[in-house]
Formats: sequence, structure tokens, C-alpha cells
Amino acid sequence: MEKGSQRRKGELPPWDIREYKTLDSTNLEARRLLASGAREGLVVTARHQTGGRGRMGREWFDLPGKSLMFSLVLGEVGGFQAAAMAALSVLSAVVELGGRGPDLKWPNDLVYGDRKVGGVLSESCAAEGRELVIVGLGLNLSYLPGELAIPARMPPTSLLVEEGRSWDGVEILRVALRRLRELWKKGGQAWMEAYRSRLAYMGSTVTVNPPYAVAGRPGKREEEIRGVMRGVDDEGNLLLEVGGELLRIVSGDVAGG
Ligand code: BTN
Repeated sequence: MEKGSQRRKGELPPWDIREYKTLDSTNLEARRLLASGAREGLVVTARHQTGGRGRMGREWFDLPGKSLMFSLVLGEVGGFQAAAMAALSVLSAVVELGGRGPDLKWPNDLVYGDRKVGGVLSESCAAEGRELVIVGLGLNLSYLPGELAIPARMPPTSLLVEEGRSWDGVEILRVALRRLRELWKKGGQAWMEAYRSRLAYMGSTVTVNPPYAVAGRPGKREEEIRGVMRGVDDEGNLLLEVGGELLRIVSGDVAGG
């Protein structure tokens, strides 16, 4: 993964927020808008997606009005950093608005224990004559237990269930966008420290499910690997201790135990 924190410079432009009732996918709409002249700072939101997309080719499901779903466009930053900053900003917004807040499961899931409340899909896009990142985030707001019955590795949950009260997605987004601007201004490694401080499974045994890649070794691995989670490096690689060796896992999916 790339050293995005080194490439990031300058101020973020003002947010250009476009709100939709229904879209196939906010990430896809952001890509279309970029192709027709939108720029860095674009934020696309939808109350419902008919073709929501997740990491590793998965789908992202929602019921109308029950999730916060948005995509924002950033420049001068790598995919991991953009996604991590977005996840951290939403987490901080929930805390600022009085919640306990979820933790972060590497690379960018938002979790309460072993239950997933949100996820991030970052994709690159060439526009304005440079490489931009489209960061799409989905957060389950008001699902009741069992309401979001989806096939998933991790059982889904919602802010309503975990925090015991209802949440306004528009308010969370407003605070999260301010938080993101603040993180961006801080620059350097300050935001990475905040990211690390909310990482789930630190010091615990985890399983990395295939396909994943190990830095310095060719190809994708097809067998699961277990080890102790020791952290995340500045490039966004998972530091996994296996048999006394520290492996840098470049991409993959982590589960507790
Ligand atoms: C994951 O956990 O696999 C990532 C899920 C990302 C879902 C969000 S919802 C808003 C944006 N639009 C999409 O189609 N996907 C992302």
C-alpha cells in the first residue's frame, strides 16, 4: 500500500454535496459525476441503493432510509488512508454525538465486538488529469435485530441496537465531514495514531481469510492464516505475528479467533 500520508498536502476543497433518494451505488454515481466535471470534494449520498457494492466484489444491502450511505472524493491520498480517515471520521462523529462508537476492524470495517455496523469501499478514479479516490461508506443506522438478514461473514448490527437509541444519518455525516477536514489539516501521522487507538483485536489471535497477500512474497494466498495482531503500519498493512515472524498482510479479511 502507498504512503498516502506523505502525498497529502494543502486544504480540502469545500464539500459539494449531492443528495439522492435512490441510486444504484453512490460510488458509481460519484464516478459518473467525476466523468462529467465534478471534482475533489464531491459527496454523494443516497437513502437507498439498488446495487450497493462492498469490498472484494461483495454486495452491500440496505433497506430504504435505514442506513447512512455516502461516497466522497479525495485527492493526494492513497486508498487505505482515504478509507481509514473516512471510517475514523464517522466513528468520531458517533462519539461526538454522544455514542460509545464502534471500533475499527482492519482494514476499515466499523464493528461492535464481532458484529459489523459499517464498511468502506475505496476505489481509484482518474479525473482532473490525476488519480482521485472515491471512498464509499455504509453505516447501519436503525435496523432491528434480525431485520438485515444477509449472507455475511460477520453478523450485521446497527447503531440502534448497539447504542440503544435512534440516530440521524444527516447529522452523523455533517459532523463526520467536519472531523475529516480536521484530520486532514492535522496531517502527518496524527490521524494514524487515532486510527490505531480504535483498532479491534490488538494483541489477540486473529484469522486472515483468503485471498490475501503478504508483503515481499509473490501472489495471493489461498489458505487461511492465524497469528497475533500486532498493529497496522503506516502503509496500511496488517502486522501479524506468526511463529515468531512479523508478516505484513497487504490486503485481506480478518476475523477474531
Ligand atoms: C464493505 O464492507 O465491504 C464495504 C461496504 C461499502 C458500502 C458503501 S455504501 C456507500 C457506497 N456505495 C457503495 O456501493 N458501496 C459503498
